Amino acid sequence: MVKLDLLISQKEILTKVKKVARELNQEYKDKEIVLVMIMKSSLRFVSDLMNFLKEPLVIEYIGCSSFKKNSLKRKKLIISNLQNLNLKDKHVLLVDDIFDTGVTLSYVHKNIIKKAPASIQTLVLLYKKSDKKTNFQPDRFLFEVDDKFVLGYGLDYKENYRGLKHIYTLGEK
Ligand code: IMP
Ligand code: MG
Repeated sequence: MVKLDLLISQKEILTKVKKVARELNQEYKDKEIVLVMIMKSSLRFVSDLMNFLKEPLVIEYIGCSSFKKNSLKRKKLIISNLQNLNLKDKHVLLVDDIFDTGVTLSYVHKNIIKKAPASIQTLVLLYKKSDKKTNFQPDRFLFEVDDKFVLGYGLDYKENYRGLKHIYTLGEK
């Protein structure tokens, strides 16, 4: 069994989600937002966020996985569905759960730019204080977290725990 230490409660997350939604609604006042979510881990974040975003709103998704099954080791970044998205002249809001090394978001961002969107900005729930492998930075993040493995609220540990309401760190056994 793993030991979970509470890090951020659902209540704290929702407070910040509402605040960022208000800012985005103001910023995209006369524009349609095309929210591109990075599955599966941003699922919960986006489902809360979209409760507070104004219409017109379009939700698109891409799939990314970078961890080996049943391990905390990284494998090659695998991206799916990106090629199917038509984002030309769209106002893209790219959303992910956590910015760790930065490899995932910078790669997806670079490839969305190639699709000639009218604008693009990036939003992540968590910003990990870890070594970065890129100079790319997200435009917005809601919480800064220490360099520890976190799970819950969409984030998995070996594909489990995504359903937990709060965010936890993985404690020592
Ligand atoms: P990056 O490419 O290193 O920035 O990592 C991005 C992806 O790895 C995120 O979208 C997460 O899904 C996953 N990830 C990174 N750190 C954690 C963590 O502490 N817990 C769960 N998933 C993580
Ligand atoms: Mg992710």
